[in-house]
Amino acid sequence: MNLDPVLRPWQPGDIDDLIFHGNNARVAAFMTDQFPHPYTREAAEQFINKTMQYNPAQVFAITIDDKAIGGIGIYPQNDISRMNAEIGYWLGETFWNKGIITKCIPKIVEYGFSTFDIDRIFARPFGTNIASQKALEKCGFIFEGRFKNTWIKNNERFDEMIYAIRKSD
Ligand SMILES: CC(C)(COP(=O)(O)OP(=O)(O)OC[C@H]1O[C@@H](n2cnc3c(N)ncnc32)[C@H](O)[C@@H]1OP(=O)(O)O)[C@@H](O)C(=O)NCCC(=O)NCCS
Repeated sequence: MNLDPVLRPWQPGDIDDLIFHGNNARVAAFMTDQFPHPYTREAAEQFINKTMQYNPAQVFAITIDDKAIGGIGIYPQNDISRMNAEIGYWLGETFWNKGIITKCIPKIVEYGFSTFDIDRIFARPFGTNIASQKALEKCGFIFEGRFKNTWIKNNERFDEMIYAIRKSD
């Protein structure tokens, strides 16, 4: 099976794959509440329409053989944080633990530093999200800090971790 992921803009034809892979409580559990659960058709349509409005593109489908299996995005910050951008990502559960996100993170980092006027890219995994933390470390992100119990997800408190990579790294 080809496991070489390609990042490309979301398209209206991805809607069924987005719902199929995104409608999963185990994926949503490690995302912000912006990631809907259940993942309805209406939510999927709204999401794809919104991503198609960014110029330059910021949110991409992670695809294998041109089929969407997850998503990844980069979000430049503003005001005094304007030299920074946050990344976020997820994969359909059947594609976990195959090294896929470790191949996607360097692609979005390269895109971010070459597209936006930024010098730091950061990610904020949950303290319990070991897979995401390991993937970030493998991609050269440095652990910068842990904030105890700052987040509430599904009525539980979680630590917020910060990992970052600098343009100069
Ligand atoms: C986080 C996520 C994107 C990781 O993607 P992935 O393609 O499965 O990650 P990779 O296979 O590239 O790397 C994961 C690493 O963590 C390890 N790992 C996974 N689960 C683990 C666990 N429970 N404990 C310890 N290590 C774990 C894997 O073995 C792998 O390390 P290795 O290459 O040394 O074996 C995926 O699990 C996911 O979509 N989760 C739900 C949404 C999410 O968490 N998004 C990120 C928000 S910050």
